[in-house]
Amino acid sequence: MSEDLKTTLKVYRGAAGEDAHYDHFEVPHEEGASVLDALVWVRENVDASLAFRYSCVSANACKECMILVDGQVNYACTARLNTGAVTVEPLANKKQIRDLVTDIVPPKERLGSADAE
Ligand code: FES
Repeated sequence: MSEDLKTTLKVYRGAAGEDAHYDHFEVPHEEGASVLDALVWVRENVDASLAFRYSCVSANACKECMILVDGQVNYACTARLNTGAVTVEPLANKKQIRDLVTDIVPPKERLGSADAE
């Protein structure tokens, strides 16, 4: 990990129904690191309350890490982390739960939905 290279991660924060804001985190940049690596680093080293979702880690199988990276829908686990500034936000077309976590459960898979019964 290079001490010189950094990425400023601008992260959307807040829960549904609250006023949202952006937090800025300076994270060390490592060649080949993903946006998910940076989010994990923030949660482990700076702010354990940062909420984001992932499961398979770079297998691109679970789709749970899908967020907006610089305004584009992307998988946090496969999106490469650039140096400079990177903005991460929850998916715009899903109901936000908290920070980067959105409700991604398809309506037909919800317990208690009319289709599931
Ligand atoms: S963590 Fe599973 S697709 Fe990204």
